[in-house]
Order: sequence, then C-alpha cells, then structure tokens
Amino acid sequence: MQHKRDLLTLLQLTQEEITQIIHESFAEKSRVKRGEGYVPVLAGRAVFTIYEKPSTRTRASFNRAASLLGITVIESTREHMQLSRGETLKDTALVLSRYVDAIAARVLHHSTLEELAHHAAIPVINLLSDKYHPLQALADVMTILEYFPNRKVKVAFIGDGSANTCHSLMIACASLGMDFTVGCPPEYAPDSQVIAAARVRARKQGCTVEVVESPAEAVHMADVIYTDTWFSMGVKDIEKRREAFPPYQVNSELLAHASEDAIVLHCQPWFLGQEITADVAYSPRSKAFEQAENRLYTSMAVLKFLLAGGASHT
Ligand code: CP
Ligand code: NVA
Repeated sequence: MQHKRDLLTLLQLTQEEITQIIHESFAEKSRVKRGEGYVPVLAGRAVFTIYEKPSTRTRASFNRAASLLGITVIESTREHMQLSRGETLKDTALVLSRYVDAIAARVLHHSTLEELAHHAAIPVINLLSDKYHPLQALADVMTILEYFPNRKVKVAFIGDGSANTCHSLMIACASLGMDFTVGCPPEYAPDSQVIAAARVRARKQGCTVEVVESPAEAVHMADVIYTDTWFSMGVKDIEKRREAFPPYQVNSELLAHASEDAIVLHCQPWFLGQEITADVAYSPRSKAFEQAENRLYTSMAVLKFLLAGGASHT
C-alpha cells in the first residue's frame, strides 16, 4: 500500500510535484471554463474538515473543488466536535481515519496539524495554520504564472514576513525559480528555518530569497507585489503591530518602484487603508480576485494528487 501523503507545508512536496500540481491546476481551470468541470473521478471519497478560525475563500473553494471531483465534504468546527470537551487529537485522528479519506483543517497552532497527521492513517491537509498556508501559495504561483508565463519574475512580499502566507509563498517561489524578496520590519521577519529551507530550493532553481527592511528596496523592479493583513487571525501583539507596519502599506507611491507592468496580489480578506489602499486593491493591476478564483483549481489538483496518486484522469 502506498504511504499516505500529508500537505501541511509545501516543503512536503518536491519541486517537481509542485510543478505537476500547478500544471494540473491549469488543466482543471480549462475544463471548468469549458463547462466540463464536473468529472467525479473521486466519487465515493470523503474529506472531514475542521475549522478553528473563520474562512470564506478556503471553505468555498475547497468544498466546491471536492464536489466537482465527486468527493463528499463533512464540515465541522472545533466547537462542534468532542475536541471541545477535551477529546484528544490522537483519538480524533484515529477515529476519523475509519470513516473518511482525508482530514483538512484550519488551525490556530501548526502543531495541531502535525499531531493529527502523526496519528491519522489518511492524508491531512493544511487549510491555514499560524505558520503556513500552502493551498493559498499554490494559487498564488498559479496566478503569477498566468500573468507572466515566460518571465523570470521577481516577487516582493511587503508587510508581515512572519505570516503564514509569506512562508508558503517563499517556498513556492523558490521551488519554481522565482526571485523572492520580503520587505518587512525586522521584528516581523520570516522564520529563519523557513528561509533556510527555501534557499536550498532556490539554489537548485537559480533564484534568490532575500529579506530587507526597506519596502521600496524590496519592490524595486518587482513584477509581483504581494501583501497580507498586518493582523493575522490569532495574533495578540496588536499595539506593536500597529506601530511597526504603517511604512509597509502597498499604495501607488510604493508601486512606482516596481516594474511598469507589475501586478498586485493579496490573499484576502484585505483591510483597506491598512496594508493596501483601496485604489490599488481595485485597480487593473490588482489580480486578487483572479487569484482567489484560482484557489478552486489548485484545490482540485491537490485533492487529486493526494487522493488519486496525482494521476490526471482525462
Ligand atoms: N485567503 C483565504 O484563505 O481566505 P479565507 O480566510 O476567506 O479562507
Ligand atoms: N495571514 C492571514 C491570512 C488570511 C487568509 C491570517 O492568518 O489571518
């Protein structure tokens, strides 16, 4: 029997597997656009989802992706589970492994996913943790490749370098040969182990991973400017963040440092007037809604990869 695969971080996928998933995501997009999206190749399968935090895009895209593949989603929240009465993650994982084919969870602490994955006999998928947001980053790089299929791009992440989105995007870009520069306050720099792991991949791909303090320097000649909220779900140091982040707003002044045809991405939800101004968020440069749409196709590709051995059934 094939060993189960989890997706808690993109570091669990090889660079080739990430490429394969993105390729499959484009194929799914073409199928859905042609009105041929419903191919229930995974009919009869089931996924149990657990939410410890709110979600709109992930919940909708993941459930819709599953339904297009014929997968049943059993959706729950921690409060509605016996976890809320003290049942262990171990027993939760062991029992769910008897009913369904995968567990997908959005959690406050990444260690929750690691513990579920350790005990589950089935794949565990990260729907966002405090450390990583792998499904988001797959849609992010898909969107970048859609707009710049033939360019060696520079991606600039501005704002909270310690956020889940920055960590996952760093790994995705390094895996696919995209230069990646973070412009962030030093106290909100990315995790040093994540940087080190991304750099190992970047070296193989001939690209770079840089962290700088100046947002203008980070954005210099960038093709993609990415930002995320300064106040990720679950953060506690609100006052410190309120002081540190204002110089890191993505606005038209900052964009003047980027390449002429640069695009702007944001995982959303955005907080207009904080990390991004409304004029930039809704400008033609912003591809955030296309990016959100791509969550559907990358989720389909991931579900196929994990539940059907990555085979394209067309
Ligand atoms: N980008 C993202 O994960 O959005 P949701 O929180 O709405 O799922
Ligand atoms: N970094 C954000 C992403 C939301 C999709 C958060 O964790 O709240």
